[in-house]
Amino acid sequence: MSRGKSIRVKAALGAVLALVAGLLAQPTGDRLFAQDAKSQGTIEKAFPNSNKCKRCHERVFEEWETSPLSKSIHSPAFRATLDAFLASPAGKDKALCFRCHAPHVREFPDHVQVFIDQAKSGDPQMDGVACAQCHLIKQVDRAKQPPEPKYEAAGSKILYGPYKDFAQNLAHQSMELGLFRKSDLCLNCHQSVPAGVNLGKSNDLLGNWDQSKAVKSGKECQSCHMPEQTGESANGEKKRTVANHTFPGRIGKLRQEAAKLDVETKIEGDKTTVTVKVQSLVPHNLPTTHPAWATVVLDLDIKGKNLKTVFAEKRVYGRVYQDAKGQRTQFDFEAVKVLEDTVLKPEELRIETFTFPTPKDTKTFDVETTLSYAPVTGPAPFLQRIEAESSKGSQDPVFQAIEIVKRTENIPVK
Ligand code: HEC
Ligand code: HEC
Ligand code: HEC
Ligand code: HEC
Ligand code: HEC
Repeated sequence: MSRGKSIRVKAALGAVLALVAGLLAQPTGDRLFAQDAKSQGTIEKAFPNSNKCKRCHERVFEEWETSPLSKSIHSPAFRATLDAFLASPAGKDKALCFRCHAPHVREFPDHVQVFIDQAKSGDPQMDGVACAQCHLIKQVDRAKQPPEPKYEAAGSKILYGPYKDFAQNLAHQSMELGLFRKSDLCLNCHQSVPAGVNLGKSNDLLGNWDQSKAVKSGKECQSCHMPEQTGESANGEKKRTVANHTFPGRIGKLRQEAAKLDVETKIEGDKTTVTVKVQSLVPHNLPTTHPAWATVVLDLDIKGKNLKTVFAEKRVYGRVYQDAKGQRTQFDFEAVKVLEDTVLKPEELRIETFTFPTPKDTKTFDVETTLSYAPVTGPAPFLQRIEAESSKGSQDPVFQAIEIVKRTENIPVK
């Protein structure tokens, strides 16, 4: 091949490559994979993937992996709600959900589409709320509503944590920061409802938690949701006091400490009255008020002859929101007003009375009271969407109730 020809071929090839590159760079609705991969690389340089920490922090990683936090952009319910949000007028602010569900979006406002694509894929390789997303926070600005985290600049090797006497390691520098033992760290994601407008006092997800007995006695979110234990903080280091990273909440033993039920039954001839005292032991709202369908339900079941239910009634603790058109909505991002609020307030004692005809043809009857987190509710198309998005279909965990406490008493008739 002559030299001239070779140059011409190269030039032609160059033109073709340039054209291909140009096509690849075309901003199409569906971003191209190559571009996503590049953005993801940039993002992971600033916020290293949790896999990188696993190498030395196996215990912490394994605990975190079982926590809801590790699934913050993974659940079918999240995907279905994200879709509904993006299709709504509020959806113009595309980063909204990720500010708490994958908070490093705050540092990459131009890459928000990567976050959306990752969440929509159903199998995101990107972390949501993982190690770096918390341990790179150097400050939380509580003057802002909602409070805002300030992150360590990209490329920094400083990770903040609770220890002053940390062992040195080759992967990162460590720095003690008091914030890690304070509720403030959690508030930037756990304090406000992502509503359509500022709901004023009702924007509060946790309620008057700072006035609770628990908080006044010195408890922080971590005292209950990251309980102390003894173990290795990093592989092979000496055992010390560490913090449980399974973040017990709806899942885990902490649930048994959520509420007490005190039940009293009075038979007056044909009429029976059951009084249930529901004592919340939680220093914040129960349930917390996001997502909008979050409810706790008190079920009363009266079982007569052959344990057949002869009477059943319930009370629902949650919120009902109204949208701009004056209609009830299951989505807080559409909410402009709170129509009803029956959430159990911090450490509240709620008294419920139920009246029904005294069961007949039986010597005794059972009074069964159950307090549980209710399954998801909403318009049929939304529920169908979740079912379609889930590999478990109608068996997806959001469709199951989670029991908090249950009491059964056998009452003699006369
Ligand atoms: C960057 C935002 C963010 C921060 C900071 C944060 N969380 Fe969360 N947290 C979330 C999100 C999002 C979820 C829901 C994950 C899911 O289920 O999809 C969650 C879930 C939880 C749950 C599980 C709730 C349940 O229903 O079982 C607990 C407990 C919890 N967080 C406690 C904490 C504590 C304690 C802190 C502070 C040390 C904290 N979180 C800091 C965003 C955050
Ligand atoms: C201000 C922070 C914040 C914002 C903004 C936010 N969330 Fe959440 N989200 C949370 C927290 C915290 C939880 C866990 C609440 C709990 O368990 O009590 C949660 C839980 C959820 C859940 C239930 C758990 C799950 O993963 O299935 C869904 C669904 C959800 N959020 C969807 C969204 C969507 C969609 C948006 C955007 C419209 C959004 N969130 C915006 C903080 C936030
Ligand atoms: C929601 C925020 C959050 C997430 C996510 C998180 N941490 Fe932590 N981490 C904390 C807080 C807060 C403490 C201090 C708790 C205390 O001392 O009361 C802590 C403590 C630690 C400690 C010292 C104590 C111990 O338990 O060993 C290490 C190491 C650590 N985290 C590493 C990690 C790694 C690795 C991951 C990811 C697998 C991770 N963290 C995820 C908030 C978080
Ligand atoms: C090469 C091993 C190694 C890797 C990789 C590593 N760490 Fe560490 N890290 C350590 C050691 C060792 C300590 C000291 C533990 C001690 O003092 O008990 C530590 C301490 C910490 C602390 C506590 C700091 C303090 O002052 O309280 C945090 C938080 C932490 N690491 C987070 C992370 C995160 C997040 C990642 C991933 C981005 C990570 N580490 C990756 C070895 C490592
Ligand atoms: C005195 C202990 C205690 C303290 C302090 C505490 N909680 Fe809780 N929290 C509980 C209990 C008990 C429950 C209810 C049972 C459960 O779901 O595990 C709960 C439930 C939760 C849930 C899940 C409830 C739901 O409705 O989805 C979240 C999220 C949560 N707490 C966040 C926080 C945050 C953020 C703080 C700090 C501002 C905090 N908690 C402080 C005890 C505590």
